[in-house]
Amino acid sequence: MFTVTNEWNKGQTLMVGLFDEKEKKREVFRKIESLFGVDLRTYMETDDLSSHKNHIEKVLIPKNEGLVRIYFLGLGSSQNLGENNYRKMIGRLFKKIDSDHVLSTAILLESFTPDHWSKERCSLLIAEAMLTSTYRLPTFKTGKQTDVEDRELTIWTEEDSIIIHKSLEKGRALADGVNTARYLTHLPANVLTASEMAEFATTMAEDYDFELDVLGKEDMEELGMGALLAVNQGSVEPPKMIVLKYQGMEEWKDITALVGKGITYDTGGYSIKTKTGMLGMKGDMGGAAAVLGAMETIGQMKPKKNVIAVIPSTDNMISGNAFKPDDVITSMSGKTIEVLNTDAEGRLALADGVTYAQSKGADRIIDVATLTGGVVTALGSWMTGAMTNNEDFYKEIENVGKSVGEPIWLLPYNEDYKAQVRKSDIADLNNSPTRKAHAVMGGAFVGAFVEEVPWVHLDIAGTSVVEGAHDLGPKGPTGVMAKTLSGYIIS
Ligand code: BES
Ligand code: MN
Ligand code: ZN
Repeated sequence: MFTVTNEWNKGQTLMVGLFDEKEKKREVFRKIESLFGVDLRTYMETDDLSSHKNHIEKVLIPKNEGLVRIYFLGLGSSQNLGENNYRKMIGRLFKKIDSDHVLSTAILLESFTPDHWSKERCSLLIAEAMLTSTYRLPTFKTGKQTDVEDRELTIWTEEDSIIIHKSLEKGRALADGVNTARYLTHLPANVLTASEMAEFATTMAEDYDFELDVLGKEDMEELGMGALLAVNQGSVEPPKMIVLKYQGMEEWKDITALVGKGITYDTGGYSIKTKTGMLGMKGDMGGAAAVLGAMETIGQMKPKKNVIAVIPSTDNMISGNAFKPDDVITSMSGKTIEVLNTDAEGRLALADGVTYAQSKGADRIIDVATLTGGVVTALGSWMTGAMTNNEDFYKEIENVGKSVGEPIWLLPYNEDYKAQVRKSDIADLNNSPTRKAHAVMGGAFVGAFVEEVPWVHLDIAGTSVVEGAHDLGPKGPTGVMAKTLSGYIIS
């Protein structure tokens, strides 16, 4: 997929970046001029080969052997460019080239390297942007092939090829994680059942040598996972608690738990959703998808860290057996829960997930979930909502999110909010206090199962799916938080 070379290979389509800075532009033009025997001097003055952000210009240069295609991409000023903008501009370029059905491209790395950035960093971002922006979701349309042919990218640079290769592979590992999360989120619930998700995790465990544990219904009964079991009660599909262990350190200590909500379909249960509210609820395992995506990246990068991934998975259905509002259930922690709303099912599944992670020695916990409509109202599709019991731990995650292009916003979490989830005449907790601050209530409920360890809760109900295609991906699942989770582990 990647080739690194310091020589121009004539068969390829070439990508050239243009920054506003005159010196940089001149240098790039000189290189093109000497290589293809053309005169670009006039372009220095006109705006036709513009360095304006996002300006894409395709230029055809006839050469003895045929035609050389060059895509010039305006990158704006090299001085105040951020990595998120950089990713997006490059993503847009690859999408454009993709729509021209070009699969084999070369990129002049020096022309894409802003002042004070390393070529290593740039090549990582380029690989990541290429693979996320051009990713295609599978369809079930008959007679259509969804597998795309392999893309070839040649990095044309004077830099040491081994170093650049490594960076490209890191970019690929990150993109693979995002795309895996997208893929899983996209699959319909009749295809991706809890058992199928467990199968997927099994394959991943084989590929990357993870330790795997899939708890079935009987294991859950033995462990007293009454919260997850309650959600599953109305389903004909068996529940699964999927557990992956990655040991990158000599000793099994200092363990980070990644807990992902794996509700493969959320009808709301007896507190049933409306027909439009239900549509799209195949994506209610977006948290699980992010965790599995992160594990994919971790499996490829093999950091010296210890990680346990915990995915409580089931669908939330109705039937004569289903759990009901007013039921009182007992979670794995021993805490009892008054069910006020069967549609607040994610927090029930997560409660047992978080308790299980702690029983396995988790030293810190990050949970990820498409948990509440409240967070969609509050933050829309632009930021993931968070809660924490530890500001320092949260700051670390927030910073990783910022650097990978997945912004996170902290919601409040104090005694007033904690008190709301404890309000019940009949049990220790209730699963749905009021409509007030219900994004916070969801997190606060999960927080009630976290003992002494640092914990960050990430509510991706608004960010895991988007309504339209964007520079770095298709319409639909975004794979959000896969990079933040793996980034936290790797950094
Ligand atoms: N899976 C939903 C949350 C959701 C809503 C995800 C919209 C993606 C888009 C969750 O299980 C749910 O139903 N939450 C309820 C909670 C309420 C009953 C307290 C909600 O947000 O309305
Ligand atoms: Mn629900
Ligand atoms: Zn749900």
